[in-house]
Amino acid sequence: MKNNILKAFEKTREAGKIASGALDEVTKIIKPGIETNQIDKLCFEFINDNNALSAPLFYRGFPKSCCTSANHIVCHGIPSKNKILKEGDILNVDVTVQKDGWHGDTSRMYLVGEVSTKAKKLVSTTYEAMIKSINILKDGVHLGDIGFTIQEYVESKGYSVVKDFCGHGTGKNFHEPPNILHYGDAKTGDRIKTGMIFTIEPMINEGESDTKVLNDGWTAVTKDKKLSAQFEHTVGITDKGCEIFTASKKGLNFPPYKND
Ligand code: MF3
Ligand code: CO
Ligand code: CO
Repeated sequence: MKNNILKAFEKTREAGKIASGALDEVTKIIKPGIETNQIDKLCFEFINDNNALSAPLFYRGFPKSCCTSANHIVCHGIPSKNKILKEGDILNVDVTVQKDGWHGDTSRMYLVGEVSTKAKKLVSTTYEAMIKSINILKDGVHLGDIGFTIQEYVESKGYSVVKDFCGHGTGKNFHEPPNILHYGDAKTGDRIKTGMIFTIEPMINEGESDTKVLNDGWTAVTKDKKLSAQFEHTVGITDKGCEIFTASKKGLNFPPYKND
């Protein structure tokens, strides 16, 4: 690979490692009774301690260092001291790190105490959908193949894919082209090229795919108030496949985590 690609990979790898490290730390504090603000504080401090910046903080006015999206919140939930996690909740924590100007963006689901089998199935299907789409990545594959892989799998399980939000390129900007749709048709769209860096971050709903944004201007929820789950990795395309920049160094990629 060319030098500029190698540099982008090296920088994104550093940012991705810090972002996934923050999500590893979050596994230690998730339990019934904590405020989502405590998750924000942990992420803020972990990112600072690693000489990096939180990209969401003040991004288009976003007030916190991570997003915390519980149950029927699809994405962009705002951490708050008033939001207390309770037994049975499922929660997405989304962290984006900026390190030396480069970005790493990742999210995982967390289970709060004992969670219903139904909710756990949604969570594991969402993770599987993301991994299946990552596994097809290599130079020459169409963008539409990503969405097709996710949609086909998820709908076969009776769930729906959110269409109102998508993955995105990353680099020196938090969000860059291309948009990565989590639904679509095989062999459509541009071809993926070696050196491209982008996120895959499917949001999968238990019920209908429709979403709406609450009055805070950020929090996206399912219209039917049914559960939604999401995982996100930042990946880089190589000649032979891809590198996942945000994989957990501790193997804490999906729940239940070791200390759950
Ligand atoms: N991390 C989210 C993403 O995956 C974006 C969050 S934007 C914020 O693209 F402002 F809400 F943080
Ligand atoms: Co993203
Ligand atoms: Co994200």
